[in-house]
Amino acid sequence: MTSFAERLPKVELHLHIEGTLEPELMFALADRNGVTLPYASVDALRAAYDFGNLQDFLDLYYQGANVLQKQEDFFDLAWAYFTRVHRDNVEHAELFFDPQTHTDRGVAMGTVIEGLTAACKKADEELNISSSLILCFLRHLSGDAAVQTLRDALPYREHFIGVGLDSAEVGNPPERFTEAFDLAGAEGLHRVAHAGEEGPPEYIWGALDALHVERIDHGVRCLEDAKLVQRLAAERIPLTVCPLSNTKLRVFDDLSQHNLPRLLEAGLCATINSDDPAYFGGYMNDNFVQCQQALGLSDAQLRLLAENAIEASFVDDARKAQLRASVQRASEGA
Ligand code: ADE
Ligand code: ZN
Repeated sequence: MTSFAERLPKVELHLHIEGTLEPELMFALADRNGVTLPYASVDALRAAYDFGNLQDFLDLYYQGANVLQKQEDFFDLAWAYFTRVHRDNVEHAELFFDPQTHTDRGVAMGTVIEGLTAACKKADEELNISSSLILCFLRHLSGDAAVQTLRDALPYREHFIGVGLDSAEVGNPPERFTEAFDLAGAEGLHRVAHAGEEGPPEYIWGALDALHVERIDHGVRCLEDAKLVQRLAAERIPLTVCPLSNTKLRVFDDLSQHNLPRLLEAGLCATINSDDPAYFGGYMNDNFVQCQQALGLSDAQLRLLAENAIEASFVDDARKAQLRASVQRASEGA
């Protein structure tokens, strides 16, 4: 018997497609593209996934992405994600991608976006999973580089719905990206940003006030600032929380110490997401099930988390109604 947590239809809003690159696929693509990996085997690579902080992880994540070179590589990557989360009852996903990780080593913007777009289309047609793409700027690079990246992506404007901000947070506050986010706003793109993962609450304020974001990715450090919590609650700014990521990157020592229950008690629109599941040991159901066990979440709280993600998504009202009906059906059978 599958549990309610497993059966629940899900919306994933914080997922780096490059972070779904499983070691097996990394080796297969390395072979296909003649890339030599600095690991002898899949097991040796997995054994290296022991991170002290975000930067430790990012070093491996950017290295792994080197095997992605051709349009079909990006297609295979995203298709593997969709087929995997189909088993977890994900019905809608908003995928982050990091173009600079690829364009800076000579891969064309169109190669990345067209490969991912083809997988999104197939997921819709064959798996009934709706999806969209969000282009993330790397915050360890310059504000000008972010602007240029967005300009380079505008010929593919119809294929992505928003922009985000990721990579090393501490020391890279959001304000440097004001121009890129203003340009995105003028293009009618949605805006989100990682903030308050390792960085302080000030970075969440900065994402809201300087970048005009509609959602905060992570945001778990907001509880250190009561005024900020008030604002996030009053404006219903969603937080895309990633519990297993937070424990793997030592934001919390143990899942039982995660502040997700307190975020919900504060009336925040918190959601559960997997971030970089190939690196953090779990896709959506792993996150839901392990949170339920470690934090003692009730079925009602799990349902609230699923409904928060529907509310926080960038789909239209008709699709939101379909997703809500799907959650309702699963709850009736609980
Ligand atoms: N890029 C991929 N995963 C990330 C995370 N958790 N934080 C910042 N940048 C990322
Ligand atoms: Zn992330």
